[in-house]
Amino acid sequence: MNVNADRIEQQNVVSVALNVNGEKMERQIEPRLLLSDFLRDDLGLTGTHVGCEHGVCGACTILVNGESVRSCLMLAVQADGCEIKTVESLSSKDGSLNTIQQAFANNHALQCGFCTPGFLMSIESYMKNNSKQPSDEEIKECISGNLCRCTGYSNIISAIKEAYSSKNSQ
Ligand code: FES
Ligand code: FES
Repeated sequence: MNVNADRIEQQNVVSVALNVNGEKMERQIEPRLLLSDFLRDDLGLTGTHVGCEHGVCGACTILVNGESVRSCLMLAVQADGCEIKTVESLSSKDGSLNTIQQAFANNHALQCGFCTPGFLMSIESYMKNNSKQPSDEEIKECISGNLCRCTGYSNIISAIKEAYSSKNSQ
């Protein structure tokens, strides 16, 4: 690489500090890098899936400061100082599933699983903000930003109902 190219590359790198799944980190990244690509390619958190890459499918949904966000619509530099949670944060260290994951397993709420991380994170956010058992209409609204092309939505809705029942009986 010649000196000029090297200088241009250095100018195009910025520092970000953030907390991902409870771990504080600092990285040098290009300003144009999408948050979804940062999570997958730089941090190896490949549970965040990338489908449409323009905000339609919801497969890339994560939590940023507790709110569900499509990580393909956000630049990694915009996450500077934020607390990020990805699907990898849901299960326990020993691998046991959380309430929503277990309900998905119990209700056959996935087939290929491509959409599943996005659904799980949307539901995680919804359940944190809504403690009362939702109606069918409210559940449909909750998952309206997530597309599934193979399981169908009935089992996913059943899983959400079961997750609420399990949570409220604890
Ligand atoms: S990959 Fe982000 S919404 Fe589809
Ligand atoms: S489980 Fe295959 S796309 Fe939803």
